[in-house]
Amino acid sequence: MMAPDPPKTRGILLAGGRGTRLYPMTTVVGKHVQPIYDKPMIYYSLTTLLLAGVREVLIISSPEDLPHIRGLLGDGEAWGVELSYAQQDAPRGIAEALVIGESFIGDGRVLLMLGDNIIYGGLDFLRRAVAEPTDGATIFAYQVKDPTAYGVVEFDEAGRAISLEEKPAQPRSTWAVVGIYLYGPDCARRAKALAPSGRGELEITDLNRTYLDDGRLNVRRLGRGVAWFDTGTPENLLEASNFVRAIETRQGLVIGSPEEAAYHAGFCSLEQFEANVAAMPRSAYRDYLERVLSDRKAALRARH
Ligand code: G1P
Repeated sequence: MMAPDPPKTRGILLAGGRGTRLYPMTTVVGKHVQPIYDKPMIYYSLTTLLLAGVREVLIISSPEDLPHIRGLLGDGEAWGVELSYAQQDAPRGIAEALVIGESFIGDGRVLLMLGDNIIYGGLDFLRRAVAEPTDGATIFAYQVKDPTAYGVVEFDEAGRAISLEEKPAQPRSTWAVVGIYLYGPDCARRAKALAPSGRGELEITDLNRTYLDDGRLNVRRLGRGVAWFDTGTPENLLEASNFVRAIETRQGLVIGSPEEAAYHAGFCSLEQFEANVAAMPRSAYRDYLERVLSDRKAALRARH
């Protein structure tokens, strides 16, 4: 018998929070449109969702930041993707994004990504997780030197997750939970049933713990070939920018281009991609995409 097709997976990109740790940079514009090296922060997470094969994305942000993000990304039509927008009135937690997105998720699954996370290097782990027909939750753990700023997962000797804690002062392991989560259709119902934490938020770690308690949490450990950054502080911003610059300069490839990702994912045609590039102002970004285009055309010519 053939395995059943996995249910449809939509994406939610949460670009919430006030970015107060980046004050005074975030006084007028929110952190998600601030630069990581050569492009706005939110380009990276959106690109990750597209490369995971997600075509419909709901972007959730604060009333102040939503107009900027919408102005930056639009409706996605030219890229062959569907971008929609919803407001989170106050920073009431990551899990609230699932409540806000309940009707968008419908009876499918959702890949929830935080707009300030950058994941780079072979996204096969993500594509594999999306291709599996699970309806529980799948989260990803990454080894970090100081896990106290993150959700932390502890494993037993057999490699099974046994505890999850949010920002523990004394972490039980060095495995931090990455800001990308895959959930089945009952996630909004579960999120609604959570009690707000001491800081008044619906905590994503509390939601994940409900799946752990029910034996429906898959935790995938990411290997050292993957780079993961979150970009909440000036220090993190600079680190991520330096990383992106190092890779781009060395390889001549650009990280975090939604236009390129949408084309590679098969969401838009070569002609549409070409028209998108032609509409851009002259810039290093456009020069790069023109190179991608001409390489692609040469490869197609060689095939015929
Ligand atoms: C959030 C989550 C935390 C996760 C982190 C990843 O923390 O609460 O569990 O490890 O994102 O970036 P925050 O960045 O909101 O403090």
